[in-house]
Amino acid sequence: MLYGACYYPEHWEKNEWASHAKLMREANMNTVRMADFAWGVMEPEEDVFDFSLFDEAIELLAKNGIKTILCTPTAGPPKWLVNKYDILQRDRYGRPEGWGSRREGCANNAAYRYRSAKITEAMAKHFANNPNVIAWQIDNEFGCHASTLCYCESCRRAFCAWLKKRYGTIDNLNKKWGTVFWSLGFSSFDDIILPAANSCEPENAQAWSHNPSLDLEFRRFSSNSWVDFQQMEIDIIKKYTNAPVSHNLMGHAPDIDYYDLSRGLDFVMWDNYPDNQWGGSDYEYVSMAHEIMRGVKDRNFVVAEEQSGPAGWDCMGANPEPGQLRLWAYQALAHGGEGIIYFRFKALNYGMEQYWHGILDHDGIPRRRYFEIQKTGAELKKLEQYIVGKKNNYDALIVRDYPNIWSHSIKRHQRDFSYTELVYSYFRANAQLNINTAVSIGNYERYKVVYMPAYNVVDEAEIAKVTEYVRNGGTLVTTFRSGQRNRKNNIASTTLPCAFAELAGIEVEEFDPLRKTTEITGLVKSEAKIWCDIIKPITAKALCAYSNRWFAGRAAITVNSFGKGKVYYVGCDLTEPAQKELVRYISEQAGISPIDAPRGIEIIKREDFTILMNHNDYEETAPVTGTSLITGEKFDGKMRPYGVEFIK
Ligand code: GLA
Ligand code: ZN
Repeated sequence: MLYGACYYPEHWEKNEWASHAKLMREANMNTVRMADFAWGVMEPEEDVFDFSLFDEAIELLAKNGIKTILCTPTAGPPKWLVNKYDILQRDRYGRPEGWGSRREGCANNAAYRYRSAKITEAMAKHFANNPNVIAWQIDNEFGCHASTLCYCESCRRAFCAWLKKRYGTIDNLNKKWGTVFWSLGFSSFDDIILPAANSCEPENAQAWSHNPSLDLEFRRFSSNSWVDFQQMEIDIIKKYTNAPVSHNLMGHAPDIDYYDLSRGLDFVMWDNYPDNQWGGSDYEYVSMAHEIMRGVKDRNFVVAEEQSGPAGWDCMGANPEPGQLRLWAYQALAHGGEGIIYFRFKALNYGMEQYWHGILDHDGIPRRRYFEIQKTGAELKKLEQYIVGKKNNYDALIVRDYPNIWSHSIKRHQRDFSYTELVYSYFRANAQLNINTAVSIGNYERYKVVYMPAYNVVDEAEIAKVTEYVRNGGTLVTTFRSGQRNRKNNIASTTLPCAFAELAGIEVEEFDPLRKTTEITGLVKSEAKIWCDIIKPITAKALCAYSNRWFAGRAAITVNSFGKGKVYYVGCDLTEPAQKELVRYISEQAGISPIDAPRGIEIIKREDFTILMNHNDYEETAPVTGTSLITGEKFDGKMRPYGVEFIK
């Protein structure tokens, strides 16, 4: 199992390396990840390559039993490159992104691609036969700093060509997009614009002032541009070596289609910071991030950057409390992680990330966090057999897909509506009932319940698959704002919920994007604050109805028998407790046994054992007893603050 830290030899004096390597070895580490952002060190001048610093560092680490994951440095183009070539992205106002940080290069810029290919090829050639380089990482965090969308002329030209391939003729595109509205017809593919700022929006608005098909296709194209850029580097590396290739993804990040991005990778890595300057995350949110990362390839992943200290840029988040670093590592491993690499080994004295603390602080003295990580490393040697290659017993699936994320952000329906929040709320309800829940697309037949909240941009193939799944006895849950849009982001002429109408056995006669709180009674009691569908059951029956306002008595939540299965339709948003009760009912009906536990106790069922976590800073009792696989002793359910147990 990979266990280690991000280590940047170029940040330290050479005579410090040996003591760092020794500390890593003594902390039970076997892996470092390096060279992301080291472009300027490896290619100080155009076409002058010097890898000697990395040769030496890799060698010294290997002598300490530590292998290297090597990153291509293309997220950090050096100054000579931007002096000579205009590679900078353009924002919605046509302004170049300033140089001075990172990730400012445009994926479709010929010079940036050419120079990225050259450094990648030079590295691949140089390190291909180095047995201590065990894997490669392409670039770093595509899409971070909101840099997925670029409005430069290279992007516009590439977009035109991309559309031409997909639409064939400009008449076809004009028709599919409905450019007749406001006289927006294009006379040729070269004529097509990017959805940049226009006359119709206030400054700094999000994209919504353009044709919705143009907007959605631009999101797809932009995501695809990075997938393509990544593939360019993968292809180069694969010419020289068989070492596995990865990239570090960003969990919940919405801008790049991670199903596409991970297709060309041998395995997924991702960067996990549960508590930094921008806030602390609820444990269910972190668990979902891990499940998203496992779900994109339906395969276990490695954490490329795991938080190891107080973290932030101009200010910091909380210092991880005793036990928390260990807990966070196990949380990742419980959700499909099978390797942990901490960010970073030691805090740096200079540079933008001076405050991003690592395992060691600036003085380099091993203290509490180091010893906790060291102990966890020793423990993992015993527990590895319960982690590597293991899979949880999943009962439910949450479908989360990128065209829907983009479409819902282009046309938000109601000012407080958020697709990603709605999808998360169904994950959270399942997590609180300790139901193992995957987040992915496809392969429905493995799960007892499939949630497709606000699945609005309808992929016909996916609807066909889910119909088959229900017909064969599956349970589907869908909600308001589902089934209405095609892949071009246009609205169907059928009655809501359009593509789901037959499955759900209902018609939505009217709806109300809410300004007034609406009450719901029946199977669960709730309030809706965002949205109400006013439902006419056709073959379905009502489980809940509205109880105030002009549509009192009309159905709000329904269930329909379809083939051997069931379809639930939830016409409104729910309070957290009501949603949990609804998910409990649906799960029990589908043969799942929810487990109630005190808040903060997380229970994961894997093969024939159970992983328990206490996310609270106080003792708590879990409703599980047995024998601890960590200590071999009897376990009565009592968990320490931030405790972890593997129980059989
Ligand atoms: C990301 C990057 C790292 C580092 C950390 C901390 O995860 O990949 O290079 O910048 O954030 O900000
Ligand atoms: Zn561009």
